[in-house]
Amino acid sequence: MKKNSMEVLSTITAIKKALEKQKSLGRSVGFVPTMGYLHEGHLSLVKGSLRQTDCTVVSIFVNPAQFGPKEDLQEYPRDRERDLALLRELGADLVFIPENREMYPEGFKTYVEVTDLQDRFEGMSRPGHFRGVCTVVMKLFEIITPEIAYFGQKDAQQAVILKKMVRDLNLDVKIQVLPTVREKDGLALSSRNVYLSKDQRRAALCLVKSLKVADRLIQAGEKDSLIIKKEMKKLIDVESLARLDYIEIVDLDNLVPMDKIKGTALILIAVYFGKVRLIDNMVVKKRSESS
Ligand code: PAJ
Repeated sequence: MKKNSMEVLSTITAIKKALEKQKSLGRSVGFVPTMGYLHEGHLSLVKGSLRQTDCTVVSIFVNPAQFGPKEDLQEYPRDRERDLALLRELGADLVFIPENREMYPEGFKTYVEVTDLQDRFEGMSRPGHFRGVCTVVMKLFEIITPEIAYFGQKDAQQAVILKKMVRDLNLDVKIQVLPTVREKDGLALSSRNVYLSKDQRRAALCLVKSLKVADRLIQAGEKDSLIIKKEMKKLIDVESLARLDYIEIVDLDNLVPMDKIKGTALILIAVYFGKVRLIDNMVVKKRSESS
């Protein structure tokens, strides 16, 4: 059923008031935090919330705290009108678009860190990134107080870290992780894909190709992470436009690297194309676990 009364709010007071009304009507609240420039990946989360809850809230906020000083905060793509049109079309109920000063008023000093997990993989390449993510998500959870919050498997480490934050701080919210949405040729949708040149876009398929090779090797019985990583790396190295950042094979629940594949593995990859850095991942389990 399509609703046509989406409300767009930019202050914490206004969104809290709108939510109070929803809750007084007994409606369950689903929340999809985003940085905007929405694509089908984001929209799949909104659809998930629309299916499972009575009131879907989407936030659009390019969070400065999760960008490093040399990162693309200023250039991060933005298109508010298009985002709002897409959300209206889908039937989202509330959209929260705060200004920076609303979320980080002068003198802001409090940050949330999930120690250890925040320093690995993405955290190595982007120091402070997850501290910024956790801080803003914690604030948004406090403001919106959703029953369910939706995140994409595309950012696998982010999802693991946020689940840990929720557990460690006893937050009363369920984190639901939905599958990565891909282009027809396999490239994971990302707001940053628009920065790729035609040749880089073609070369970017090496991420998903290398993940598929890993899956094939694991299904064939290969258990040695080093061998799998080496085969994956070959597919990145043949692309002259690609520069590997990292490949890791880790335990899905706690991000601890696995030397020998056992149970369900999470394979993470990050690759540069010029200045553009793309990430992808795959959850792999050997289908016949007899060997
Ligand atoms: P953003 O990159 O805008 O992503 C918002 C949500 O969309 C995240 O949960 C992300 O994992 C999900 N997403 C992105 N691409 C996807 C794809 N191809 N398939 C499925 N889901 C996808 O992630 C962030 O923003 C920020 O860190 C945020 C959580 C909003 C905190 O600022």
